[in-house]
Amino acid sequence: MAVTRTFSIIKPDATRRNLTGAVTKMLEDGGLRVVASKRIHMTKDQAEGFYAVHRERPFFNDLVSFMISGPVVVQVLEGENAMQRNRDIMGATNPDNAEPGTIRKELAESIEANSVHGSDSDDNAKIEIDYFFKPEEIVG
Ligand code: CMP
Repeated sequence: MAVTRTFSIIKPDATRRNLTGAVTKMLEDGGLRVVASKRIHMTKDQAEGFYAVHRERPFFNDLVSFMISGPVVVQVLEGENAMQRNRDIMGATNPDNAEPGTIRKELAESIEANSVHGSDSDDNAKIEIDYFFKPEEIVG
């Protein structure tokens, strides 16, 4: 299976509870390698642009407010079939539906404060990585 890259965000509910390390350990234990990482406080414009695909959804404004409510950690993850592997480690969007042992089941607070974001396709992974990282910031 091919080694690929995906994009991850450790969300404000997780940074607020000092869970950056706990989340990263679950990603690493699941076979992913952090090849880029930075802690940022997103601007409203950045968050709206990042989630533009959800602009028409009823939860869009709340989602943007939440994502700028505190620092996040944006990461590039590398591993075999990284996008799907990361989604398996994260679990379902709604922690109530997530499998035991997944990040969202073990750590998330709600469907909004769900601790992590992960790309949902290889094409979106590339778009999302390029949104936050310059090529020279990624060191495999
Ligand atoms: P994420 O993977 O970051 O992509 C969009 C986010 O919207 C999602 O995770 C959820 O945290 C958030 N969200 C809030 N409410 C909903 C909802 N009703 N359905 C889906 N996603 C939601």
